[in-house]
Amino acid sequence: MKGLILSGGKGTRLYPITFNRAKQLVPVANKPVLFRVIEAIKAAGIDEIGIVVGDTGEEIRHAVGQGKRWDVEITYIPQDAPLGLAHAVKISRDFLGDERFVMFLGDNVIEGGISGLIRQFADSDWNGQVVLTEVDQPQHYGVAELDQERRIKRLVEKPRHPQSNLALVGIYMFDQHIFDAVNAIQPSWRGELEITDAIQWLVDNGYLVHPYIHRGWWIDTGKPIDMLDANNRVLAELTHYSNGYVDRASKIDHLVTVEAGAEIINSVIRGPAIIGADSRIVNSYVGPFTSIYHDTHIEDSEIEHSIVLDHSRIVGVPHRIEDSIIGREVEIGYSSIKPKAYKMTLGDHSKVGLL
Ligand code: DAU
Repeated sequence: MKGLILSGGKGTRLYPITFNRAKQLVPVANKPVLFRVIEAIKAAGIDEIGIVVGDTGEEIRHAVGQGKRWDVEITYIPQDAPLGLAHAVKISRDFLGDERFVMFLGDNVIEGGISGLIRQFADSDWNGQVVLTEVDQPQHYGVAELDQERRIKRLVEKPRHPQSNLALVGIYMFDQHIFDAVNAIQPSWRGELEITDAIQWLVDNGYLVHPYIHRGWWIDTGKPIDMLDANNRVLAELTHYSNGYVDRASKIDHLVTVEAGAEIINSVIRGPAIIGADSRIVNSYVGPFTSIYHDTHIEDSEIEHSIVLDHSRIVGVPHRIEDSIIGREVEIGYSSIKPKAYKMTLGDHSKVGLL
């Protein structure tokens, strides 16, 4: 089998973090979501992976390279515009050939990997397999309706009035018949060739698509709140270790990872949390469910349930920072310069909540 990862698209719901960056490269527990997807595919025994890329292709190529780090072979498939998931499949025809493949959306994080699913599909005569899971707000996803025999009856993309609470998870398995489907369908109301419609075409034309119900957690990291949620889940599951320096005045518990070159000075870190390589935490408190990426400096400040990206500085902030995603090279600090006022240089689409 081959793997196909979709890493095009715009990521507008994660602005400003993804204003000029690929959303698939935003780290969850200090590892880009896309890297977690590659690892899940490799763990399922697949070595040939195609990555569909759009405007942020250069950045993705730079971060992933040829795949040596994971011992996989990466082929990049440029997509001129984000014309839909089924369009991404269409342009990947040469790479995929007639082999069965798994398609994984590059911004999805799932509990427990996909090895079992891939094995099940590889050993079956199904033409496709979709992964479904129960969600609270199905209207934000592709939604599946099953019949009494638990077979797929109908799939609708982001329906106003969902007929079930079973959402399509961003992991799909297909054989070569999917190409007939993507060539047969028309763009939807949002102008995209929907994979949901292509799967419906398979079902309507008598092909066998097996619905697998996933019981663990799954997160589409489309919005900031989802990103924080994914961060919580992954941090809670990590096997933690300390390779950095923790001075005697500091307190860290066994659910804290301190990466190589990081320094914790006179601080309290409560896990689950991760402090990235070469970061410095001085006279500070880092609370549970916080990921501090590499080369970051936090001093005389408190932060919890947050993600801080690389090369940022948080110094002397008088109130605890919570539920926040802080981008790269951001500076947040206390200033004694008069007049006493908030002084900010914020990029487009920034969001700040003041006390
Ligand atoms: O996350 C699950 C949902 O993913 C499913 O429930 C929906 O049925 C499915 O349509 C999809 O919906 P989204 O609206 O969340 O898809 P999004 O536009 O966020 O794209 C998902 C990934 O695919 C993302 O990593 C960007 C990439 N992509 C997207 C499009 C539209 C491409 O590479 N090319 C594209 O043309």
